[in-house]
Amino acid sequence: MDGSVDLCGVELGGPILNGSGTFDAIAARRVFGAALDREFPFDAFVSKTITLEPRAGNPPPRLWETAAGMLNSIGLPNRGLAGFLESDLPQLASLPVPLIVSVMGFSAREVAELVGAVSERAEVSLIELNVSCPNVETGLVMGADPTETAALLDVVRPLAGKPLIVKLSPNASAPEDVARAAEAHGADAVSLINTLKGTALAPGRNRPWLGGQGGGLSGPAVRPVALAQVAAVSAAIELPVIGMGGITSGAHAADFLSAGARCIAIGTESFRDPAAAGRVRADLAAIIRKEREEI
Ligand SMILES: Cc1cc2nc3c(=O)[nH]c(=O)nc-3n(C[C@H](O)[C@H](O)[C@H](O)COP(=O)(O)O)c2cc1C
Repeated sequence: MDGSVDLCGVELGGPILNGSGTFDAIAARRVFGAALDREFPFDAFVSKTITLEPRAGNPPPRLWETAAGMLNSIGLPNRGLAGFLESDLPQLASLPVPLIVSVMGFSAREVAELVGAVSERAEVSLIELNVSCPNVETGLVMGADPTETAALLDVVRPLAGKPLIVKLSPNASAPEDVARAAEAHGADAVSLINTLKGTALAPGRNRPWLGGQGGGLSGPAVRPVALAQVAAVSAAIELPVIGMGGITSGAHAADFLSAGARCIAIGTESFRDPAAAGRVRADLAAIIRKEREEI
């Protein structure tokens, strides 16, 4: 990719990130070794979301294939903050690109503790707040309600020694209102979309297929929704926007950049084709080169 990108003061080699939870760089390095680092497919790496305490995740089944997408109810399995800092962070810190750590808590206090601890680590360039979960104190989803998002940032912002990306939920009546609240209360960037709420019934049975009951829809099926929300949010705020949702090609990436995104992320497509990000990068570079030649 010709052209570096400034993301909240962090210089990236290009605009391509991974969606949190969709590319396991530690496992990929076990398989591909040093070759992964030589041709690392992303310009910054976003960790799987971590929580304060370890989580086993949801019972199986955890995936359901839909027309042009999939539902997942993984349930955020992770080692918890202490396990992440001890085991995962040293491995992720040696990747050849800046590291973004994704955190989620079930109250502002929990998010504050995560952000405070992660901020202290020099290996971390930015922090992403995954706010697609209910606040146990109010019952409201932190990223689906502007007042909740504002209240969360008021607590967390003073503790964050790193730029904060708020990952917006698409399950809000107006994500642009949530984005405005995030901007007004100290966010440095926003990313979107996270998965759309969905469910599937077990064949022939009147009960949900997924062990977690409901799940999150991702993949090409969500791309028109994602593009509309990225355009609406980009028009509503001045902050950099990271756009994602169903991107599988360089042309899709170019669409999200045209809609106002500064960076884009590849999610579900990496499960189908682990080399997807490299392909998107090459195609996007060719599209940008062609556009420049035509000017
Ligand atoms: C299996 C799976 C796990 C995910 N885990 C996380 C996660 O831990 N944290 C998060 O913020 N988003 C998570 N996501 C959402 C993605 O990062 C992304 O926002 C969403 O899937 C839309 O992009 P896509 O259609 O390209 O996958 C996950 C998505 C999938 C499919």
